[in-house]
Amino acid sequence: MSDIVVSENVSGHTMDRLRHEHDVFYSPHLWHSPDELKAALAHAQALVVRNQTKVTADVIAAAPQLKIIARAGVGVDNIDVAAASAAGIVVSYTPAANAVSAAELAMGLMLALARNIPAAHAHVVSGGWDRVRYMGTELAGRTLGIVGFGRIGQLVAERARAFGMDIVMADPFLRPDSPALLRFDACLLTLDDLLTASDVVTLHVPLMPETNNLIGAAQLARMKPSALLVNTSRGEVIDESALLAALEARQIAGAGLDVRRQEPPGPTPFDTLPNVILLPHLGAFTHEAQERVIDAVCRDVKLVLAGRPAVEYFNFSIPNGSLR
Ligand code: MLT
Repeated sequence: MSDIVVSENVSGHTMDRLRHEHDVFYSPHLWHSPDELKAALAHAQALVVRNQTKVTADVIAAAPQLKIIARAGVGVDNIDVAAASAAGIVVSYTPAANAVSAAELAMGLMLALARNIPAAHAHVVSGGWDRVRYMGTELAGRTLGIVGFGRIGQLVAERARAFGMDIVMADPFLRPDSPALLRFDACLLTLDDLLTASDVVTLHVPLMPETNNLIGAAQLARMKPSALLVNTSRGEVIDESALLAALEARQIAGAGLDVRRQEPPGPTPFDTLPNVILLPHLGAFTHEAQERVIDAVCRDVKLVLAGRPAVEYFNFSIPNGSLR
């Protein structure tokens, strides 16, 4: 029985060192099987996950020694944080480590959609050279609507400004006098107004009850027929059936989806649409981001197991033994 359970692929030098120093059960496919996960956690003090392990109240109840759940990433929507907190377990995460990578991927999807890059590549490798067919649009001078103006949203704004885009944003947590708005000379709009005004819409909200299906049929109906939609946040933020209908009807021009409601999604009707780019949740997957993420995860696991406070935590920094 191990001290630390790693139930997804969280690898690298720092993880190798952790595996030398501690008794680690490294099982990157464990997330597929809740029963095996629960058995592995019977004596564990730390659980390391990405976004695929569902850390439910049931899983937490099966881990009576657990001191820390370390999320290698920013979103904690796969963890029942209330249940973890009630059990006195620290939930650590890495809110900043992959923000640049996520922002760069959002820019990449915008460019790829606006210039038909994947389709044009497929055309050339199959022997074609038709330039007119892959005529694109410029981003310069277009209005970018950023939904969610936290760390990643602001990094996207910084990059989009350099591309000559005008920025509008919607964020219920942002005040109209926020310095972030002044910094980007950006307008704070309601979501409805942002959707109407934007040429490109990019989503950067966490998954919460309020953001589940945030973009549905009514919202898509507000968008311009020439508009592009980019989602590098969480699949559940978009009503996928409504998006499929909007793309098929050319109600919007295209979508770039890094994230899906179900991951992996299996075959879906999106696969054959020409105006869609699909990626396997790559937002955080750069060498640089992963090094930062894994360093931070291993640091906080080691600190908590040594009886010291975690540095980046979602609920509290030290486990509360009296709650168990
Ligand atoms: C995150 O929440 O940090 C990203 O979606 C990346 C991930 O889940 O691995």
